[in-house]
Amino acid sequence: MNVAVLAGGRSSEHPVSLQSASSVLDGLERGGHRCTPIVIDESGRWWARDPREPNGTHGEAISVAPGQGLLGADVAFPVLHGPFGEDGTVQGLLECIDVPYVGAGVLASALCMDKLAFKRLMAEAGLPQVRYEAVHATEWRTDPDRVLERAAAISLPCFTKPARMGSSFGISKVTERARMAAALEAGFRHDPCVLVEQAAVGKEIECSVIGNDEPQASEPGQVIAHGDWYDYESKYREGGMELVVPAPISDGQRERVRRLAVETFALSRCAGLARVDFFVTDAGRVLVNELNTIPGFTATSVFAKLFESTGLGYVELLERLLSYALERYERDRSYRF
Ligand SMILES: Nc1ncnc2c1ncn2[C@@H]1O[C@H](COP(=O)(O)OP(=O)(O)O)[C@@H](O)[C@H]1O
Ligand SMILES: [Mg+2]
Repeated sequence: MNVAVLAGGRSSEHPVSLQSASSVLDGLERGGHRCTPIVIDESGRWWARDPREPNGTHGEAISVAPGQGLLGADVAFPVLHGPFGEDGTVQGLLECIDVPYVGAGVLASALCMDKLAFKRLMAEAGLPQVRYEAVHATEWRTDPDRVLERAAAISLPCFTKPARMGSSFGISKVTERARMAAALEAGFRHDPCVLVEQAAVGKEIECSVIGNDEPQASEPGQVIAHGDWYDYESKYREGGMELVVPAPISDGQRERVRRLAVETFALSRCAGLARVDFFVTDAGRVLVNELNTIPGFTATSVFAKLFESTGLGYVELLERLLSYALERYERDRSYRF
């Protein structure tokens, strides 16, 4: 197939995406596909350029037209993390130009990007999560005392995080009340909504999921950050984290993680792939943290490693994702709309 691979993007996660996309391009080529690499620069312009080539080699600017596809590609593979890429915006564009694409559609992408919307949906279904309060920038500007009072309902330590970001950008661990205002301000730099979350004490467990209507969960793994918590540094610095597969949790917890991974995937109406992240607390509870619709995607990223541990290699994994993309496209176009 001719696969248009979208790399880069406008979010702070641009550099991470270039790495993910380079691995995806290598893997697709090893699988015998012809690739059309596209780099989206930080200002949002699209270029026919290979992210594996050194900086500065600009290709041609790309423009698209409604209903007319994308450079003749059979399928598009958005390997974009964060806002303006993983959040339904690019997915909406791909719908408009009428190209099948890998991963979640518009609704699930937008929903899972927004940690507050996601939490509310999970709460409605009774799924276990940490305690949290959501605060908005307008409320913070007009009545900061009230915001601090609400935040005080969450005991310390706690985490503050912008509703729509990733790669730990804008997140702070707050250990003293006096630091709360600065932590909220750091979050508001990224989003008008910030969550204040109770810190879960225990293990961070991640589980990958692939499929459409019958999603399959991988073996769960434990992520051990070589720092106080899993911040940007530990995520991307060489040796900053360690992945332990299988995760050292009980059989019951393992099954619960896998079941919840599939359940959150279905509830948020995801498609193709996702990585669902959990806390397994020292008290033995399994709590849903978040769902990433386009997780880090190099061959050594957690997403791929978890499937590799059960014998599904990177090239075969990519192959499956392409087929799920085509299957969903056919199905969506078969409805009367
Ligand atoms: N409620 C929490 N309890 C414990 N650790 C947390 C909590 N929220 C976030 N963290 C830490 O911050 C990291 C990033 O938070 P997360 O919600 O996954 O945001 P991102 O989308 O940036 O990955 C987590 O992997 C974890 O190490
Ligand atoms: Mg995370």
